[in-house]
Amino acid sequence: MFEKELSDIKNKGLYRRLRLVESEQASKVVIEGKEVILLSSNNYLGLANHPKIKEAAKKAVDKYGAGSGAARLISGNCILYKELEEKIAAFKKTEAALVFGSGYLANIGILSTVAGEGDLILSDELNHASIIDGCRLSRAEKIIYRHKDTKHIEEILSKNRSKRILIVTEAVFSMDGDIAPLPEIIDIAKRYNAMVMVDDAHATGVLGKRGRGTAEHFGIEKGIDIYMGTLGKALGCYGAYAAGDRGLIEFLINKARGFIFTTALPPSVLASAIKAIEILDEEPNLIKKLWGNRNYLLDGLRNIGLNTMRCETPIIPILIGNAEKALKMSEGLFEEGIYAPAIRPPTVPENTCRLRLAVMAAHTKEDLDIALKAFEKVGKALNII
Ligand SMILES: Cc1ncc(COP(=O)(O)O)c(C=O)c1O
Repeated sequence: MFEKELSDIKNKGLYRRLRLVESEQASKVVIEGKEVILLSSNNYLGLANHPKIKEAAKKAVDKYGAGSGAARLISGNCILYKELEEKIAAFKKTEAALVFGSGYLANIGILSTVAGEGDLILSDELNHASIIDGCRLSRAEKIIYRHKDTKHIEEILSKNRSKRILIVTEAVFSMDGDIAPLPEIIDIAKRYNAMVMVDDAHATGVLGKRGRGTAEHFGIEKGIDIYMGTLGKALGCYGAYAAGDRGLIEFLINKARGFIFTTALPPSVLASAIKAIEILDEEPNLIKKLWGNRNYLLDGLRNIGLNTMRCETPIIPILIGNAEKALKMSEGLFEEGIYAPAIRPPTVPENTCRLRLAVMAAHTKEDLDIALKAFEKVGKALNII
C-alpha cells in the first residue's frame, strides 16, 4: 500500500522514520542501543525527568488513578485542572486559563473558535503547522505576512477591513529560534483594532527571568488578547493552555471543538504540570543555566563557521540547504554520539533544510565541547565548513 507515494518521498530525501529512545529524556539518551548527547529536545530545563515532578505524577496516580475516563465536560474534569488553570493564569497574569490536550489541539481549537467566516487572520509565514491548520479550520480569510515584517502587516491592514481581525504569531519561532517583534505588532493591532494571539510554546519557561514567556521578556503588560502555550516543552510534561480574559475562556469552553471533543488529560500529567510551574519559581537558576549553555554552544558553532541563521534563543538552527546533505550531517553526528535530526520540508521551506538544535539546562560543558568537536569533524568531512 502507498508504495509509489513512499518511494516519491524517499527519492526526494524526505523519508521520515521513527527512532526508539530506550532511556528517560535527559541530556544523554539511549537511541537504538547507542548513548548519544541529545541536542534536539524541547525539554529545555530538563524538567521531563525532574525528581519532584516524577514524585508528583506518582502521587497523582495513587490518588486519582491512571486515566481521566472522559472529556472534561462529561466526567473527566479532575479537580487538579482547577489548581493548574489558576496557576497558569497567575503565571501569565491573565484573568483565566484553559488547559487543552496538546498544543496542536489548542491552536486548532482556539483559532477555529475565535475567528470564522467573514473574519480576517494575519499569520506569519513561518508559523507552526498547528496555527496553519487552525486558520484553515476557522474558515476566516487568511493573509500570510512576510516573516516578522511589521510593515507588511500594516500594509495588509491598511487595505483590508473586516468584522474581526486577528494577528497570530509564534513568540519564539520553533525552527528558526528568533523572536517575534511583539511590541510593534501590539502597537499596529491597537491602531487597526485587531486582536493579537501569541503562541508561547517555545517561550514558556525560556523567555523572561522567571520563564513567563514573551510578555515578561518584553515587559508587555497589555495588548496580547490570547496566549497559547505548551506544557510539554520547557515544562517537561504534556498538554497546552489558552490564557486570556474570562470571556475568552468561557467562549472556548463552550465552542472550541479541540477542547470539547477529546478525552481529558490524565491526572498524573496535571499534577506534573502544577509542580513544573512551581519549580520555575523555586529554581530560577535553571533558566540561567539554559541561557549560559545556549551562549556557549552558539559561540562555538559560529566560531567553527556554521550558519546559525538568525538565532536569538536556545533553539539554534544550522542551515544546510539540501535535504540529502542535512541527512548526511545528522547521520555523521549520530556516529560521533550526537543526536540532532535533519529538519526538512514541509517543516521548513524547500532548500532551507537544517539541523535544529535545542540546548538544555541539563547539558554539561563537557557535553557541549564533545558536540562542538563532532560538528567540526562532520562539517569539514561534508564540506559544510
Ligand atoms: C510553535 C508551536 N506551537 C504548537 C506546537 C504544538 O504543541 P504540542 O506538541 O503540545 O502539540 C508546537 C510543537 O510541536 C510548536 O512548536
